Amino acid sequence: MTKLTVRNTIPADIPALIDLQRRIYPTIKAWTPQQMLDQIDAFPTGQFVALYGDRVVGGASSLVVLWDDWADEHTWEQVTAFGTFESHNPEGRTLYGAEVFVDPRLRGQRVGHALYEARRTLCRRANLRRIIACGRLPGYQAHAARMDIEEYVRRVLWGDLQDPVLGFQLKEGFRCCGVTRDYLAEDSASGGHASLIVWLNPHFDSTRPTRIPPGAI
Ligand SMILES: CC(C)(COP(=O)(O)OP(=O)(O)OC[C@H]1O[C@@H](n2cnc3c(N)ncnc32)[C@H](O)[C@@H]1OP(=O)(O)O)[C@@H](O)C(=O)NCCC(=O)NCCS
Repeated sequence: MTKLTVRNTIPADIPALIDLQRRIYPTIKAWTPQQMLDQIDAFPTGQFVALYGDRVVGGASSLVVLWDDWADEHTWEQVTAFGTFESHNPEGRTLYGAEVFVDPRLRGQRVGHALYEARRTLCRRANLRRIIACGRLPGYQAHAARMDIEEYVRRVLWGDLQDPVLGFQLKEGFRCCGVTRDYLAEDSASGGHASLIVWLNPHFDSTRPTRIPPGAI
């Protein structure tokens, strides 16, 4: 039986990850090879790839931030330094999820769960306080004519509406703590907006320093 594995991303994975992104996002530009090399260079332990056997089927990219620097407002370009992760700050205690995606042919097979579990494992091992992300809201496009993004998110949280991304993140134990307006203009399905979501590390110990484990997770 073919096995699902998750490991840290290496440069050889880049072409397959970019190919996946191109297939998944009709309106959002895929990473460039240089952006992905920069991300691996800035924070190798935070970049994950999911494989079925040796086939690349998903990816998740993250960096560490001082959340107070970004909490008031930020865009995707600002927090990721235009996808280079030059904004990665090892002094921070927040793992910031910049991207997650799964091959459409394998959705619902727990690949996204395995990538999120890799992030949670990193968070626990590094003694980070939490994971924060701004999530896409692709279900919004079908309702945008009738309600603003805040009402849409409330209705998803109330269970009146389903969103393919926020639904997954809630199932993964994240809480939604607001909406980040004008996060990524290219993401027309989400109206350019995003949810603001958080997962708190139950093992976080504020008396101990952050310790990013070296090498692969
Ligand atoms: C969001 C995404 C990563 C989810 O990946 P996935 O591999 O299909 O998700 P999984 O199969 O791992 O789902 C994990 C759990 O969430 C549940 N789930 C998934 N989508 C759900 C939804 N829309 N609503 C409720 N639950 C959902 C699954 O049933 C599963 O539950 P289980 O623990 O009982 O088995 C994937 O749909 C994707 O790549 N979307 C396009 C890219 C994108 O927009 N990424 C988000 C960037 S912010």
